Amino acid sequence: MRALVLAPLTVADLGEVAVIENVSFTAPWPTSAYTTELTTNRLARYVGARINGTLVGFGGIWLMVDEAHVTTMAVLPANRRTGVATALLLELLQEARRGGARVATLDVRVSNSDAQRLYRAFGFAEVGRRIRYYDDNGEDALVMTTAELESPTQLAIEAALRTRVEEGFARA
Ligand SMILES: CC(C)(COP(=O)(O)OP(=O)(O)OC[C@H]1O[C@@H](n2cnc3c(N)ncnc32)[C@H](O)[C@@H]1OP(=O)(O)O)[C@@H](O)C(=O)NCCC(=O)NCCS
Repeated sequence: MRALVLAPLTVADLGEVAVIENVSFTAPWPTSAYTTELTTNRLARYVGARINGTLVGFGGIWLMVDEAHVTTMAVLPANRRTGVATALLLELLQEARRGGARVATLDVRVSNSDAQRLYRAFGFAEVGRRIRYYDDNGEDALVMTTAELESPTQLAIEAALRTRVEEGFARA
């Protein structure tokens, strides 16, 4: 069974991050943006996922006092729909709790149904819309938020997802 290894992203990972970023987004962030995130943004927490030594996905949050904002999440196309993003988001929400966040929020393109399914599975619900938020195509963003991270409902959702991920991947 494949082992999935999660670890904080470092500057040494950014070559592999760029590969995933460029195949995942129509408006990829430049490597310089990730360098800033990892070296100077004290609110930022990024986690990478490796299988057999290869970075297959990563995601990040900003810890803004009592709110954790999911900034990005991407998985190599060949490794999608196997639970990698679920494992990453489980880890990021745990990091959010450790950092004192009460809820998690995010923005997602209205057309991005894959990502929305992932987020809805985590209990994120739509609470608003940012009109023409994305510069590249003028698309709207959905604003989504979780319930209270410490609520029994949220903890139960994540416990069920954790069981599913652990069945899919060997523990590293
Ligand atoms: C959105 C994205 C990050 C999801 O990544 P992923 O690794 O495929 O997500 P997961 O595998 O954890 O979950 C996706 C599906 O796999 C299923 N899955 C399969 N095996 C699984 C397992 N062992 N454990 C958990 N889920 C599993 C999930 O049920 C889910 O099914 P669904 O899509 O039918 O609901 C990925 O599609 C991506 O990189 N997209 C491009 C970048 C992007 O849009 N990022 C989001 C920006 S807001």
